[in-house]
Amino acid sequence: MLSGKNVLIGITGGIAAYKICELIRMYKRNGANVRVICTPNALNFVAKLTLQNLSQNEVGVDEFEVSDFKPEHISYADEADVIVIAPATANTISKIANGICDNLLTSIVCAFKKPVIIAPAMNCNMWGNPIIQENLKKLKAVGYQICEPESGYLACGYNGVGRLCTLEKIFDKTVEALHAKASSGRKVVITSGGTIEELDPVRYISNYSSGKMGLALADEAFKNGDEVVLVTTKEVERPYKVVKVKSALEMQNAVNNEFDTANVIIMAAAVADYRAKNVAPQKMKKTSSDEITIELVKNPDILKELCDKKAVSKNSPLIVGFCAESENLLNNAKEKIQKKGCDFLVANDISRKDIGFSSDYNEVTILDKNGNATQLERATKTEIARLILDYIK
Ligand code: CTP
Repeated sequence: MLSGKNVLIGITGGIAAYKICELIRMYKRNGANVRVICTPNALNFVAKLTLQNLSQNEVGVDEFEVSDFKPEHISYADEADVIVIAPATANTISKIANGICDNLLTSIVCAFKKPVIIAPAMNCNMWGNPIIQENLKKLKAVGYQICEPESGYLACGYNGVGRLCTLEKIFDKTVEALHAKASSGRKVVITSGGTIEELDPVRYISNYSSGKMGLALADEAFKNGDEVVLVTTKEVERPYKVVKVKSALEMQNAVNNEFDTANVIIMAAAVADYRAKNVAPQKMKKTSSDEITIELVKNPDILKELCDKKAVSKNSPLIVGFCAESENLLNNAKEKIQKKGCDFLVANDISRKDIGFSSDYNEVTILDKNGNATQLERATKTEIARLILDYIK
């Protein structure tokens, strides 16, 4: 599964370091070339000789060794296809999040432009520290993948979240990250999920969108080698940039931030057309009246705005809309593509229970500007995503 791939494992100074001996063997068994880099503290927990024998490579610790007249951190960063830091201590996580390069491992990571997977392991109180959480958020925001630690008995005697996740999870994430093709040089921005429009601190207006179609598009684009930005209302961890948003206004802002550098924008999200005029600051109380009225105001039509912006902008991304219809699918879709002005419109029939919302399957019709319609037969959302991406190329 990993034949010909170069996996660089970074081990930092935590007790879970001993488990990484087995992880090295898993990568080796699957054909990878494994290089281990230890922080100086990691060697308090595991012997260099052990790691050297298992990886069949020299283990790097010192930043100032040189090979081929290249500084070590640059040559290691050039050679690796993926970096896996396990266990990652709070200290190393915080250093990487803040661009600190004070040892060989942190310097390599700073110079590395391919996927980085981080598997934290630490005391539960350290894990719960808001500063550490903030640093992890920063890393996720720029595309680092986190293998979340698990809950259980910790070596420090506490019971809580902080235990290194299973080696299988780290291994699977590595395979997923290495699956991506060479860069296509294309940047694809995709929205997904239903927006959430707050009414008060405990209530909101939303819709049944699962975000699966947008996520499948993002995954397939990533596998194509595209630079992917997924703007989503759902909680997802992916090896590409994910921008988590809630409301239509937040989504509008996030997509606009990417507009100037995007080559393709796919609006698969189900955006609420209206939001509450006033969001109550406190929970709304039941009144003696049998009816209440909530005033709503129109949300921006993000897709239409993007198409209007394209007409007057230097950047001219290909813009793809989605449309969800419960009746007169084709006619409504034809009207919508004209109204919005996008290049393609992918039409979904949401009246069918066997496809669309929440389902893993879909069946869509793609319309182009000239009114040509192409139907894609019922298939998994992954297959439909692949076909849509091929079609709009
Ligand atoms: N869309 C958007 N902003 C909105 C509403 C929709 O960007 N405020 C986008 C959706 O992401 C989708 C397309 O417009 O790509 C069509 O969404 P749909 O809900 O089918 O159409 P609406 O424009 O909302 O029209 P209607 O609800 O009247 O069918």
